[in-house]
Amino acid sequence: MIYRGDPLTGLKILGTGSCVPNHSVTNQMLETVVDTSDDWISSRTGIRSRCIANGDTNLTMAKAAAERAIEAAGIKNSDIEVVLCATITNEYVTPSLSCLLQRELGLNEEVLAFDINAACSGFVYALNTAHSLLQKTSNKYALVVGSEVLSKIMDFTDRNTCVLFGDGSGAVVVKLSRRMPFLFNSGARGDNLVLNCPAIYESNNPFSQNTNEKKAGFLQMDGSEVFRFAVESIKKSIMALLEKAQVSPEEIDHYVLHQANSRIICTAAKRLGAPIERFFMNIEKRGNTSAASIPIALDEMRTSGRLKRGDKLVLSGFGGGLTYGSVYMAW
Ligand code: ACO
Repeated sequence: MIYRGDPLTGLKILGTGSCVPNHSVTNQMLETVVDTSDDWISSRTGIRSRCIANGDTNLTMAKAAAERAIEAAGIKNSDIEVVLCATITNEYVTPSLSCLLQRELGLNEEVLAFDINAACSGFVYALNTAHSLLQKTSNKYALVVGSEVLSKIMDFTDRNTCVLFGDGSGAVVVKLSRRMPFLFNSGARGDNLVLNCPAIYESNNPFSQNTNEKKAGFLQMDGSEVFRFAVESIKKSIMALLEKAQVSPEEIDHYVLHQANSRIICTAAKRLGAPIERFFMNIEKRGNTSAASIPIALDEMRTSGRLKRGDKLVLSGFGGGLTYGSVYMAW
């Protein structure tokens, strides 16, 4: 889907924030847990360490990231009208992480708050949803968060998955802006064989035969299929987006792709014909933090002075669902 809200109304990021656990787990530490090696992990993925929650929760990290984004935006909590959290690892089926944040941050009761489940594409889906919703509200601010504790759904006996993922949260505060562009493109291809994580509902329902079936709620993945899907969908999504925006790949200052694997990002850069230096990467220290990876990257780029006002950005997520989505906007 190519989505273009009011063509005159784009989206401006006013502030970013992030929070990762301070417990770093290196590839060498994983060598003591599963049959793997630092060489295998780093050469196949670019990952050398990841942060793993050790006392931190999805909510504590999301709250810290959100507070930093609100402070950087220079707004009051009471100005926030929309709260969207992209996550697949909330502590509860209900309340949503967005509702828990409403309470923790002391936001107005009138906020529109709900979560988005689109795995690693979640943050860009949430950004687009915020863009649409702000056009229907009184045009204040939206808080958009990507936050995951993936270590909760990792099987630490499965070397195919447990070496890839990390925990963390990132947040942005956005506002509609007539001077900024905003274009979105997305797709979905339901396929639970390639990437899935069963929900665990223990039930004592006496009226169903199936209630005692218990599955471990671990993430399972066919890595090479996901890899193929990722490189194909990134190119398709970004090319369609840039064509609509009438901007060439070389004109983009920063490509902020979901940090799943450095080889995916390098392949995408080659296929798009864009210089690899324009593709931000922090996967070496963060691993794959799913919905959190793009807002964490944006915060690290902002705080390290890499972003200049007016820079053209492409954000692109891909992953579970399967889903993909890309955003064209400016800093
Ligand atoms: N250590 C050592 N060996 C391993 C490990 C490991 N941690 N994991 C797998 N292997 C083995 C496999 O058992 C297999 O062995 P076999 O050939 O004897 O059966 C072999 O390594 C597979 O090797 P490759 O084919 O070279 O692996 P590949 O190049 O496909 O890399 C990887 C695997 C890194 C998983 C890659 O496919 C990938 O990154 N895929 C994308 C994953 C992704 O992006 N997920 C994002 C979505 S997640 C979300 O949405 C929540």
